[in-house]
Amino acid sequence: MMELPFYHAFAGKVPAVATELAEKLVSMAPAGLARVIFANSGSEANDTAVKLVWYYNNALGRPEKKKIIGRNKGYHGMTVAAASVTGLAFVHGDFDLPRGRFLHAGCPHHYRFGVPGETEEQFAARLATELEELILREGPETVAAFFAEPVMGAGGVIVPPATYFDKIQPVLSRHDVLFVVDEVICGFGRTGSMFGSQTFNLKPDILTCAKALTAGYLPMSATLVSGPIYEALLAQSDKLGIFGHGYTYSAHPVPAAVALETLKIYEQRDIVGHVRRVGPRLQAGLARLGEHPLVGEARGIGLIGALELVCDRAARANFEARAGVGAYLVRRAQHHGAILRNMAGDIIAFSPPLIITEGEIDKLLDCARRALDDTLAMVRERGLAG
Ligand SMILES: Cc1ncc(COP(=O)(O)O)c(C=O)c1O
Repeated sequence: MMELPFYHAFAGKVPAVATELAEKLVSMAPAGLARVIFANSGSEANDTAVKLVWYYNNALGRPEKKKIIGRNKGYHGMTVAAASVTGLAFVHGDFDLPRGRFLHAGCPHHYRFGVPGETEEQFAARLATELEELILREGPETVAAFFAEPVMGAGGVIVPPATYFDKIQPVLSRHDVLFVVDEVICGFGRTGSMFGSQTFNLKPDILTCAKALTAGYLPMSATLVSGPIYEALLAQSDKLGIFGHGYTYSAHPVPAAVALETLKIYEQRDIVGHVRRVGPRLQAGLARLGEHPLVGEARGIGLIGALELVCDRAARANFEARAGVGAYLVRRAQHHGAILRNMAGDIIAFSPPLIITEGEIDKLLDCARRALDDTLAMVRERGLAG
């Protein structure tokens, strides 16, 4: 702030610190991502990605290739385009989003959507086939991009089944569909690699990130694009005489400086190595809690995870939403000393600070276990369990 409290990034001027941050991000990001455009939130980064995809296809003379495929239960934000890519009904309801160009593929949650006897690999193959059928039905010449979070967050912390992305990516390449990877949650260590793309071997054409970019301390997000996309955008903006996108606070020097310092600290403290070291303790603890009579599935990777509560483990049956079982559990957890998040479907999400220690993980798990026991007692008392 002392050096440059504000300058915009329009008309050929960019704060030097933002340029430095762009270079830093490109050096850390999955191979092939070459350029960065900044915004202020995850939603804006994804809205920007949608606009760039459309602009890109206009630049290539493909005005029909504009449809965007998200996934059921995918979450990409609340602005108009990001909400439309999102596959959660509550984000759509009554907001009159312009949904015509937005389609949704199947949700990669094996526990909920795998058919009996189907292995994770078989389920992944089926989802890839269904995606290809969707693209063919719509006409590949009309499908521009596929958006995915490496691990779905707000949709319920859904870790993809084994080989899922290995099977999805060739489908996208075959039909010249851009792969937009939303790393707003997974970016910067959460899954045990710097990016979720590295954990799951993804090759994004566009990558969006936010949140941990500044450790959440100041609002900033980024959209990274491949070299060929950048070249096409550049040629098109030369043709139009202007690149007509950007926000007043895009590349704001203060969050950019905070982001640069944050990334430096992640490296100094080897935050990714730390997540890799302590993540297994969280996952092993969650797996143990997965044996609790209230838990249908425990899942996660790195320092993100969830417990999905059920009233009948054999039938995998949910409690009625109005029983408020997940909300009760979260209140009990807070009473015992841990803040957890309850998501639709009584899914209890864990996403602790990346600096959490093994001792703190044990405490967190202990609070969760006590909250589960309290909730089981409540459920039995009220006759809610099957
Ligand atoms: C994966 C993902 N994408 C996008 C967003 C939207 O980010 P924001 O709330 O900063 O607009 C979120 C927010 O939680 C998210 O989890």
